Amino acid sequence: MQAIVYTKYGSPDVLQLKEVAKPTPKDNQVLIKIYAASANPLDWHLMRAEPFLARLENGLLKPKNTKLGADVAGRVEAVGRNGTQFQAGDEVFGAISINELGGFAEYVCAPEALLALKPAKMTFEQAAAVPIAAFTALQGLRDKGQIQSGQKVLINGASGGVGTFAVQIAKSFGTEVTGVCSTRNLDIVRSIGADYVIDYTKEDFTQNGQRYDLIFDAVGNRSVSDYQRALRPNGIGSVAGFTTLSRLFQVILLGAWVSKTGRQKIGLMATASPNKKDLVFIKELLEAGKVVPVIDRTYPLSEVAEAIRYLEEGHARGKVVITVEQNSKT
Ligand SMILES: NC(=O)c1ccc[n+]([C@@H]2O[C@H](COP(=O)([O-])OP(=O)(O)OC[C@H]3O[C@@H](n4cnc5c(N)ncnc54)[C@H](OP(=O)(O)O)[C@@H]3O)[C@@H](O)[C@H]2O)c1
Repeated sequence: MQAIVYTKYGSPDVLQLKEVAKPTPKDNQVLIKIYAASANPLDWHLMRAEPFLARLENGLLKPKNTKLGADVAGRVEAVGRNGTQFQAGDEVFGAISINELGGFAEYVCAPEALLALKPAKMTFEQAAAVPIAAFTALQGLRDKGQIQSGQKVLINGASGGVGTFAVQIAKSFGTEVTGVCSTRNLDIVRSIGADYVIDYTKEDFTQNGQRYDLIFDAVGNRSVSDYQRALRPNGIGSVAGFTTLSRLFQVILLGAWVSKTGRQKIGLMATASPNKKDLVFIKELLEAGKVVPVIDRTYPLSEVAEAIRYLEEGHARGKVVITVEQNSKT
């Protein structure tokens, strides 16, 4: 089969489309014929081994797992010996666990526990756009953010892969949502349900006197004192991303101190954890039309390097999707 592989860390130039062995499912896995995948910042963090700590996970000098791609949607081709939940022909979607990846390929094996049936009305491209970004939004809002109906919620980075899910998921919890994005994305953020939008090129949400119960930051470019200023006295700041290592460490260290000594809670959310319960929860939101994936661009498998290059610029509008076969629409 064809797959994107990389044998050394570096820019998207290290990514190559190669002929590799088709995988065989383990007892608890299914083999999926992939029709679409999607790219996440995780892919370029691993590809570049940035931050350096990524090397502790995936090899100090060169990558141990030479494949990338977590989010996939496709058709079950074979079922492992202990498989009970799916059968050949089922259309499924989900995220491959971070230690294995391999979604930028024609086939991948994944445990049944990480997959769900694809919503029938969605295309493979739409379904592949969902898993990691939606898990991040859901877990960041619900688990770290303790979101509750009636709250005032601000989403920083509302127009990105994670942000477009965060706006819609926060609305589904019955909150009032303010989305922060640049001028060109104001309309799209409004169209996915934000009650208010703030153009970060014209207004600083931490300086306008508004206070929020929950700030979910899908950019990670603000200081702890910025969050403190924009949060209500017992508000929560749930940070998903970071733009520099000093921002990251400030949120971890100073955020922990602020959370311990005051009523506001500010900190980095845990790495998004793919799991069936949340995937089914998200699937129900998709089926109810409460969440609709926003797709910015699609690239064929042979152009994953271009897709990652575009994502790395940091201005994707929704998700960047990889199509693995042209006639993959349902
Ligand atoms: N904790 C986890 O497990 C986890 C999982 C997934 C992602 N993440 C992290 O979450 C972050 C977001 O991921 P993503 O997939 O959403 O990335 P993405 O799709 O690349 O995000 C791009 C978006 O960020 C917006 N943006 C850039 N600068 C901004 C600013 N100063 N203020 C507001 N918005 C700004 C851009 O809007 P404009 O074009 O309008 O500037 C664009 O729409 C990344 O740092 C990623 O590493 C963490």
